[in-house]
Amino acid sequence: MPVVKVKDDHGKTMTLREVDGFYLPVIRVPYDQEKEFRDRTDWTARSDDVLICAYPKSGTHWVWEITCMLLNGNAERINLMKEMAMLECLSRSALDSMTSPRVLNTHMYYGQIPEDFKRKQCKIVYILRNPRDVAVSFFNHHTRLLDYEYSGDWQQYLPRFIEGKVDYGSWFDYVVDWEASMNRNQQNPAHVVTYEDLQKDSVNEVSRLASFLKTEGTETLYKEIAKQCNFQKMKKEKDPLEDTAEWKDDKPGMYRKGIVGDWKNWFTVAQSEVFNAVYKERLASVTLPVPYTI
Ligand code: A3P
Repeated sequence: MPVVKVKDDHGKTMTLREVDGFYLPVIRVPYDQEKEFRDRTDWTARSDDVLICAYPKSGTHWVWEITCMLLNGNAERINLMKEMAMLECLSRSALDSMTSPRVLNTHMYYGQIPEDFKRKQCKIVYILRNPRDVAVSFFNHHTRLLDYEYSGDWQQYLPRFIEGKVDYGSWFDYVVDWEASMNRNQQNPAHVVTYEDLQKDSVNEVSRLASFLKTEGTETLYKEIAKQCNFQKMKKEKDPLEDTAEWKDDKPGMYRKGIVGDWKNWFTVAQSEVFNAVYKERLASVTLPVPYTI
């Protein structure tokens, strides 16, 4: 799987891994990532596996943490990094050695998920977030994580994000494709959650998720989980688990701002107009509740 330097119109490059035309992040793993990625199609699922699926920067860490607590039936912090349960970071043997119930996560397309997860009708939680906040969050991710070797500014970055010259490709393609996949797979409906609803009413969203997962719990537990998973608390307790050497200035940035609407501090009027036009054209067929207002 070659490591490529993907250039934009400004000549700025981003270092990514390419496999059959699909971009992945360059992940530091102690095994042959290409082999594992290609072999992934016949990996074995367990019927009680839960898969958290989202385009990057949509709130995957947050929902993953909540889901782990719900399945464990308590509000205790799990001593595991979300990345250690990410399908595209795992090897087959690492996945097989995880204890059940497994809360896995991925940014891959539905079609890239191993077939056994579909055969066994594993529960899928799908997260949506306003793509303008996703773009801002991904820009900070790309400029702060050293392995991307990316030095573009926001003005240069936004067209790159829109075109999908980033790991996992275009947000627009991802959301359109996931919706089409869900429509084809109505026998195993995914639970859809938005980052914005989680912010607005965390306890209600935790409770809704619990009903979907069919976990046992009380309102008191849901409140406690929402509290334990609040942004400040997660940042304080999860940041120290990060490998600081991977981050610019040794400062982990996975938990950055954790708010809705930061895009307003970044987008110029002209950038908003361009983005709105692309959004209208590309998402015309999507009926899922994307938190986006023009
Ligand atoms: P920002 O960069 O806008 O702050 P992902 O987990 O999919 O990579 O998404 C990361 C985004 O979710 C970041 O957004 C991060 O700060 C935010 N986030 C992570 N945990 C959160 C939490 N507990 N509450 C709110 N936002 C959270």
